[in-house]
Amino acid sequence: MTTSLLATSYIAAAVLFILSLKGLSNPETARRGNQFGAIGMLVAVLAVAVHAGVITSPTLLGALAVASVIGALVASRVAMTSMPQLVAILHSFVGAAAVLVGISNHLAPAVELAGAERTIHDVETYLGIFIGSLTFTGSIIAWGKLQGVIRSKPLMLPGRHLLNIAMIAACVWLGVLYLRGGHEALPELLIMTAIAGVIGIHLVMAIGGADMPVVVSMLNSYSGWAASAAGFMLSNDLLIITGALVGSSGAILSYIMCRAMNRSFLSVILGGFGAEEGAAPAGGAVVEGELVPTTAADVVSQLKAASSVIIVPGYGMAVAQAQHPVKEITQILRGQGKQVRFAIHPVAGRLPGHMNVLLAEANLPYDIVLEMDEINEDFPTTDVVLVIGANDIVNPSALDDPSSPIAGMPVLHAWEAASCIVFKRGKGAGYAGVENPLFFKPRTRMLYGDAKKSVDAILALLKA
Ligand code: TAP
Repeated sequence: MTTSLLATSYIAAAVLFILSLKGLSNPETARRGNQFGAIGMLVAVLAVAVHAGVITSPTLLGALAVASVIGALVASRVAMTSMPQLVAILHSFVGAAAVLVGISNHLAPAVELAGAERTIHDVETYLGIFIGSLTFTGSIIAWGKLQGVIRSKPLMLPGRHLLNIAMIAACVWLGVLYLRGGHEALPELLIMTAIAGVIGIHLVMAIGGADMPVVVSMLNSYSGWAASAAGFMLSNDLLIITGALVGSSGAILSYIMCRAMNRSFLSVILGGFGAEEGAAPAGGAVVEGELVPTTAADVVSQLKAASSVIIVPGYGMAVAQAQHPVKEITQILRGQGKQVRFAIHPVAGRLPGHMNVLLAEANLPYDIVLEMDEINEDFPTTDVVLVIGANDIVNPSALDDPSSPIAGMPVLHAWEAASCIVFKRGKGAGYAGVENPLFFKPRTRMLYGDAKKSVDAILALLKA
């Protein structure tokens, strides 16, 4: 393949990746965006393999076949609610790849450079391995926390910020030795790789509960920068561009999530969101009051009398896959002239945009699906709120209990409506593991059971 054809393929792949990101920013175009990304990746792999003359290499073809089968199997089997774990573990692969590329590049450099060029290349290799190692271990811890194999409670070591600073200083010092030592400095490189790995573990272990989404998007960004650094090491323009696209879009997403969670960007990068050093995280105040159960029939009579309804979907709606009957209820109520809208919290569910995807899947009109900021002021004038499988995102203690682990996180003001019905199976806590005073408020009623069964029961009564 000629160099100009390679460059053209790279540009085509880069454009497809940009179109992919644009498509993924909206549920209506997300599927097409995904396809653009897959085609872009195919173009990139073919261009690199043809140019390098390895397109018929049995090793490459074998690796591609095995990886494609594993990828297809894992992606088709994963439950939507387990997506964050999958994303986290995939980030760890990118980190590991950057480390391996960096170390092999150090052992057998692709190009022999001298002078300033050599120094710049060494800095790129060193940084690439640093970010890669941190991403690798941090992503594995994030996977463990999301999967529930590592407890989600933040690990607050005494003097943890000093510990981080000391480890980073050691990496900088080893970097200086590495630049001076050149090819002989493999031990410095390996020690830094190990320290960066410990930093990754420590940063993510210090983060708990409801703050995990920001960490996942942050690791997404890190994995992009690690890929970009690998592109510099291999002098591959497309990898540099692709890594930068992932790195910057992940950083923008993290920034948006930080704003939504009312956390500072810097505190995420430092880990632990500025929780008090040495102090165990508070579990929130003890809530007093009574949980009052209700029935589907009672909910239906409330809905019949209501003129405005807000539905707050959460993780439990995704687990129960209740979006389709919820859509039918919405259609019936709207057909009766009632105002029905959906209130979407930015971290509802387990993925950015999780609820939007579910509602789009059920073909709900987009104009009745509103973001938290657009609808939060309307709760006091709403007759009935249906909280379907949501918990943390409607927890008032985030606003009025400074000891709560979710203190400061903006939430949907479901308790301000005339009546609030909470659909859940039992006394299970939300992701952050804290008690929710909303459930004990005088205007709240609990509709116990699987959300799909409860919604189906309401739908049947509405139709009857
Ligand atoms: P959660 O706070 O996790 O609460 C979900 C509730 O749904 C639980 O209390 C559970 O109670 C109930 N539930 C589970 N399965 C159910 C079913 N089949 N039928 C009925 N109810 C069911 O969810 P949320 O309010 O959506 O908040 C999301 C949380 O996840 C936040 O803390 C957020 O920070 C975190 N998180 C979000 C993301 C992203 S990016 N969105 C990623 C990682 C973590 P029962 O067990 O009693 O039924």
